[in-house]
Amino acid sequence: MDKLIINGPCCLKGEVSISGAKNAAVAIIPAAIMADDICLIENLPCIEDVVSLNATISKMGAKTEFLDKHTLKIDSRGVENVSATFEEVRKMRASYYLLGALLGRYKKAEVAMPGGCDFGTRPIDLHLKGFRAMGAEVTVERNVIKMEAKKLTGASIYMDTVSVGATINIMLAAVLAEGRTVIENAAKEPHIVDLANFLNIMGAKIKGAGTDVIRITGVEKLHGAQYTIIPDQIEAGTYMIAAAITGGDILVKNIIPTHMDSLSAKLAEMGAEITEFDDAIRVNAVEKKLHAVAVQTMAYPGFPTDLQPQMTTLLTVAEGIGKVTENVWENRYQYTQMLKLMGAQINVEGRVAITTGVTTLNGTSVDATDLRAGAAMVLAGLCAKGETTIGEVKYIDRGYEEIETKITALGGNIRRVSL
Ligand code: EPZ
Repeated sequence: MDKLIINGPCCLKGEVSISGAKNAAVAIIPAAIMADDICLIENLPCIEDVVSLNATISKMGAKTEFLDKHTLKIDSRGVENVSATFEEVRKMRASYYLLGALLGRYKKAEVAMPGGCDFGTRPIDLHLKGFRAMGAEVTVERNVIKMEAKKLTGASIYMDTVSVGATINIMLAAVLAEGRTVIENAAKEPHIVDLANFLNIMGAKIKGAGTDVIRITGVEKLHGAQYTIIPDQIEAGTYMIAAAITGGDILVKNIIPTHMDSLSAKLAEMGAEITEFDDAIRVNAVEKKLHAVAVQTMAYPGFPTDLQPQMTTLLTVAEGIGKVTENVWENRYQYTQMLKLMGAQINVEGRVAITTGVTTLNGTSVDATDLRAGAAMVLAGLCAKGETTIGEVKYIDRGYEEIETKITALGGNIRRVSL
């Protein structure tokens, strides 16, 4: 069991290069098995979720090979097994994309209910509603979702709630359905556009990804493709906040700056200096007194819920009263208990957290209660006085490539110990 130990406070300065997007990668790998051909996926992040998904598709018969740390060759000609009920599937949320991918390719799928971070109930009713609308019979028995369709037919699907996962899953199945599918009130996250671009290179006909109406005309077959995954919006945001919380100056490189607009605007409002370049953003907070602001999480292009724990942590050391409203998940404040152990003043009522800025946090022993909560603990540790020990690092490893190496290169005092 690994732990991260940080000795703070640290002032992070320098450049950091952002890895490929986790949430695009976990959709694009299942999409690759729809091809009955060879795909080459580049700029994959080197993280545990990719390792788990690679193990899962290999068990299903895909021949996979890492050509280097970030490039995976997937030969899905041997994929026969339409059942994915293994342990890996239960570990991660995104394994449910195998449902859409297998249903599209084989008109049949059997996948264990997904795991993933715990922020209250995480229903998948909208995914199943979409599959049913396309003609699939869906049953859930002993935590395994079983689906079969004599014929998969395009349909008009209106999303009651904007859902990233349901939009992706329905898009996957629809590319190999007969006829036209229209997804209304679709999610618009960058990784949805990335997946659509990949599928289109494979021969799919998808229009409108990135808007709230996606139109898909089904095709008979997809072919292999070579594709480079977009940079990770959330990893980039985490390092931008790292600059702000440590009073540092970081050039966050290899990103798409427009993906960061909602965060850049908030950091500027707080008093940090933000400079945008073609594929980088510099956040300079040296000798700047940051003041608290109000933040509301929303679907893209709103402020991402996956940066909420990191932003709330920053607000605990900003001057004045901050207000955070979590509109996406019903219970994503578990980590605030950990911040309180470090001296943060936070009151949570339902979906709202109110912070009263303190001059400093104090290092202590905390746990990563989930992936982004883990990132928040790292940020807290970097600005806290003394030693912070972070347990349950496995959550952080699911989504952040070489976090301690990147932070060390920026001048942070962080090390990993294996116990
Ligand atoms: C994706 O989860 C991300 N995961 C999450 O990131 C992210 O927090 C979330 O989108 C929101 O941006 C992946 O991409 C693998 P949703 P997903 O379906 O798809 C409700 C991270 O840290 N809903 O957009 O599971 C749901 O309860 C992870 O990287 C239904 O009601 O999220 C929630 O309130 C954590 N019925 C809202 O929609 C459904 O069938 C948004 O969920 C599906 C969702």
